[in-house]
Amino acid sequence: MILLSVCLFLGIIPSFAFSASSEPKINCLIINLDYISCTWSEHEANYSFKSKFLHEEILDCPKYLRNDSVNVGCIFPYEKTQRFSLLKTWLYSDNGSLVTEQPHNLKAYVKLHPPFNLSVVEKESELWLYWNNSRNSLCIENEVCHRIDSSVWKITAPSTRTVFSLPFPLKKQYKFQVRARIESSCGQSMFWSDWSEPVYWGSSEANNSTDKLHKDV
Ligand SMILES: *[C@@H]1O[C@H](CO)[C@@H](O)[C@H](O)[C@H]1NC(C)=O
Ligand SMILES: *[C@@H]1O[C@H](CO)[C@@H](O)[C@H](O)[C@H]1NC(C)=O
Ligand SMILES: *[C@@H]1O[C@H](CO)[C@@H](O)[C@H](O)[C@H]1NC(C)=O
Ligand SMILES: *[C@@H]1O[C@H](CO)[C@@H](O)[C@H](O)[C@H]1NC(C)=O
Ligand SMILES: *[C@@H]1O[C@H](CO)[C@@H](O)[C@H](O)[C@H]1NC(C)=O
Ligand SMILES: *[C@@H]1O[C@H](CO)[C@@H](O)[C@H](O)[C@H]1NC(C)=O
Ligand SMILES: *[C@@H]1O[C@H](CO)[C@@H](O)[C@H](O)[C@H]1NC(C)=O
Repeated sequence: MILLSVCLFLGIIPSFAFSASSEPKINCLIINLDYISCTWSEHEANYSFKSKFLHEEILDCPKYLRNDSVNVGCIFPYEKTQRFSLLKTWLYSDNGSLVTEQPHNLKAYVKLHPPFNLSVVEKESELWLYWNNSRNSLCIENEVCHRIDSSVWKITAPSTRTVFSLPFPLKKQYKFQVRARIESSCGQSMFWSDWSEPVYWGSSEANNSTDKLHKDV
């Protein structure tokens, strides 16, 4: 069971600091460079949310995340390069009074969607793994995790290439997963994407249902 989940354990666990006080803590993450998702920690009251990037207009929340009709987060559009600029967020209570104002530096807070369309082909006695990244960008680095039958998982050093090869395929089952993040020359993100869906090559003697795909939480 432990061996099966090594890709998972190699993941960065998003560790948000929750404050002990009752003042809500607002956490924001840029999802796939498509939109920003901010959530807050206190759900006793129904807060409304505003945000503002430096030198831009104040934005009322266009789309709330709700739990039991209580606002628990907000989703708003992300535009190119905004992550290098300071974001301020505010929560207001029903009567309009300000609950909290918080600054966010989101440069390293980008979480991409996992790589997809993984495919494996055998050519010239090698196995070649290909995939697509969720954004068409030179700023993305990838980590490949692979395993032969039930041996230990191996993880490669990050690379911006979307191809990976292994020599001399054995008569065994190969399993691959890939994850991605913004790389250092573009302002590295501290978050990896979740692992992709796995792709398999070859057949295994251990064809069993325990080896389910696993993902980061
Ligand atoms: C919604 O709120 C309930 C009760 O406060 C909590 O148990 C549950 O985990 C919340 N669900 C989500 C998705 O946050
Ligand atoms: C919370 O506020 C939203 C508007 O932002 C409203 O639609 C919703 O009904 C409110 N929920 C409660 C429990 O008052
Ligand atoms: C607004 O509501 C908060 C609690 O939600 C309360 O602490 C505050 O005193 C109220 N402000 C006014 C002006 O009524
Ligand atoms: C992913 O694969 C599907 C089916 O093979 C194909 O239609 C699609 O264009 C591929 N996506 C990309 C980004 O290449
Ligand atoms: C997706 O990956 C395939 C295989 O590497 C590649 O041929 C194709 O151009 C990629 N599509 C996009 C949109 O990058
Ligand atoms: C699958 O697992 C079961 C027990 O978990 C074992 O009895 C069986 O032999 C396995 N099948 C193969 C093909 O390895
Ligand atoms: C497991 O074995 C069965 C029968 O041998 C085969 O039909 C099935 O495709 C195998 N599943 C996987 C995931 O290899």
